[in-house]
Amino acid sequence: MKILILNGPNLNLLGVREPGIYGDSSFESYLPKLQERFKEVEIEYFQSNVEGFMIDKMQEVGFTYDGIVLNAGAYTHTSVALHDCIRSLKCPVIEVHISNVHTREDFRHKSFISPACKGVICGFGLDSYRLAIEALIEINKA
Ligand code: DQA
Repeated sequence: MKILILNGPNLNLLGVREPGIYGDSSFESYLPKLQERFKEVEIEYFQSNVEGFMIDKMQEVGFTYDGIVLNAGAYTHTSVALHDCIRSLKCPVIEVHISNVHTREDFRHKSFISPACKGVICGFGLDSYRLAIEALIEINKA
């Protein structure tokens, strides 16, 4: 099984950015823990602050990989282009958020990408990514 974890804008600053909300560990230090836990899954990681680069990456892998775990950051709440991209792909996409966006500002309550995704996991800190991979494993078994 081969999956992509795709992080969007400002998620390169995990560990530094608002640690009270997003925690104090970088994604680069968390990723090896995921890779250790899911030895049977090849996990590729990509981060970009640029919407178009995220779309390019999803188009590149979305017809051959077994799934994408997507934290689109703030583009979640704005991007029709990401919505359209996700709908175009063959593989399932799981939307994740580290924070529980529904307990935060109103503008974070709307997701443009949820209707195009297989499911949504939010509010479990970095563990949201693990839960999303578990979901992809189950989907691929079915
Ligand atoms: C986030 C939530 C978004 O509202 C925010 O813009 C982010 C991170 C999260 O993981 O909790 O950048 O996607």
